[in-house]
Amino acid sequence: SQTVTRDEHGVLTVGGIDVKRLAEEYGTPAYVLDEDDFRSRARAWRTAFGENADVFYAGKAFLSRAVVRWLSEEGLNLDVCSGGELATALSAGMPAERIAFHGNNKSVAEIRRAVEAGVGRIVLDSFQEIVRVAHIARELGTRQRVQIRVTVGVEAHTHEFIATAHEDQKFGIPLAGGQAAEAVRRALQLDSLEVIGIHSHIGSQIFDMSGFEVAAHRVVGLLKDIRDEHGVELPEIDLGGGLGIAYTSDDDPREPHEIAKALSEIVTRECEAAKLRTPRISVEPGRAIVGPTAFTLYEVGTVKPLDGLRTYVSVDGGMSDNIRTALYDAEYSVALVSRSSDAEPMLTRVVGKHCESGDIVVKDAFLPSDLAPGDLIAVPATGAYCRSMASNYNHVLRPPVVAVKDGQARVIVRRETEEDLLRLDVG
Ligand code: LLP
Repeated sequence: SQTVTRDEHGVLTVGGIDVKRLAEEYGTPAYVLDEDDFRSRARAWRTAFGENADVFYAGKAFLSRAVVRWLSEEGLNLDVCSGGELATALSAGMPAERIAFHGNNKSVAEIRRAVEAGVGRIVLDSFQEIVRVAHIARELGTRQRVQIRVTVGVEAHTHEFIATAHEDQKFGIPLAGGQAAEAVRRALQLDSLEVIGIHSHIGSQIFDMSGFEVAAHRVVGLLKDIRDEHGVELPEIDLGGGLGIAYTSDDDPREPHEIAKALSEIVTRECEAAKLRTPRISVEPGRAIVGPTAFTLYEVGTVKPLDGLRTYVSVDGGMSDNIRTALYDAEYSVALVSRSSDAEPMLTRVVGKHCESGDIVVKDAFLPSDLAPGDLIAVPATGAYCRSMASNYNHVLRPPVVAVKDGQARVIVRRETEEDLLRLDVG
């Protein structure tokens, strides 16, 4: 985990730098990302899955050029889901063959760009897209490696999954009613596509491995049907991302080696039963790699006690830098990090500066009752889906991402400025 300690005054230090210095130099709010922690998590996934599997980091969790270089150095591949993510990956030198391109509505221009660049795989999400990608690959005189994304009838919710008979959602092609088998049949007939496997992603922030078990079982069932019908054994299956992390002390995440072991055992067992060659497995963790590696550093502004209720603690950011609380009812923790305090804890709600009452960062939190304007507080586990989902709501400027390592800090994504905002406003 993060190299976080406290000095004798209770000031939090990360990657060898104390947060007061970080706040002075880079301002607040800021996402503070521990490079060593990121690299060691990436490496742990890589090592756990070994040579017979591939790890694709899901760029949607957080993507920047520095991160792409770290991933590339640590031997991971990259999952992108838009032209913007693809451009970032390519501009940071990720080899195209190590990129997978996802999305339920990739534009023709995006597909063309991906095929031209030579991405290692495009994950096909619909019947129309099978034809669209085949057409573009043929036009460009190439054969594109593709996977077919299927929905296996398992819907993962935050802490558990429920099996659904029908998939009522926009991603993938349902296994139900033979639709996925039909998609594979069509794709196999198209010379400009090389069908390398089946893809399944069951959801996010999952702790229970049984959803993956059901998914693996059903995907292997499809591989068997394909073998029986076409005499083709597809060489790969991708089981997606979705492994949960600890946002609060109630969460108990699995380690990469446990996940790797469980997934490869399930797939091997299912393939043996179906008398299939075991395919190469790939996974796409995003949150599990980057989520725990960063915290958001805020400065406390107004502290407003409401008699008999709680104290509202306003920070200098909010739903524009962390939409997850408002959007998913996500839970976070928070701590005073610029000093120690012996004061009694008080019940607070940490809120942002936006003109909206749902602008909540941490819904229920205990903080010392002597908390005052100017104190620094930190919200851990904001590495995933915070900067990447940040907005300019109320024309609030998006915070920087500051990477720390060995006592050095450097900005990897700079703070937005008013000039940045006004540059787009050309009316
Ligand atoms: N692969 C595919 C095809 C995905 O759709 C996703 C996430 C991932 C991998 C990575 O999932 P992870 O390991 O990071 O859970 N914005 C939401 C999460 C949406 C995730 C969408 N797809 C959040 O803040 O929780």
